[in-house]
Amino acid sequence: MKKILVIHGPNLNLLGQREVSVYGSTTLEEINNQLAQVARENGVEVVFFQSNHEGDIVDRIGRCPADGFQAIVINPAAYTHTSVAIRDAVSAVNIPTVEIHLSNIYKREEFRHHSMLAPAAVGQISGFGVHSYVLGLLAAVKMINA
Ligand code: DQA
Repeated sequence: MKKILVIHGPNLNLLGQREVSVYGSTTLEEINNQLAQVARENGVEVVFFQSNHEGDIVDRIGRCPADGFQAIVINPAAYTHTSVAIRDAVSAVNIPTVEIHLSNIYKREEFRHHSMLAPAAVGQISGFGVHSYVLGLLAAVKMINA
């Protein structure tokens, strides 16, 4: 079975209680459960990883080829706007990657308008709340089945 890694960046462990007006009231566990269901319906395996630490995310991406992942779906959260290291990790492993955001980052503060990761990703989905994750996972499934 094809395997997709879903990575959640910093503070996404606090979903459900964090800035509910921006990110909604769904918890990370509920999001992962929804994604697991979508994965089952689409015949793929999905594995989840959340970290508040840039280096841990870099390490996790770096192990993806050895672990046999065919695609990555990532919400880099605040590291979207700062991390050359995460972008370089994605470029290094050469595994198709979908960048997702719950909020529409282009509608928010100017510092959120730039994504360091975007040039290394296949594409970006931003602004659909929890549905951004579902759309991102479906995009990853399409890519690996293409
Ligand atoms: C986010 C947007 C980022 O700007 C922010 O730092 C986050 C979450 C989103 O999903 O909308 O933590 O990636």
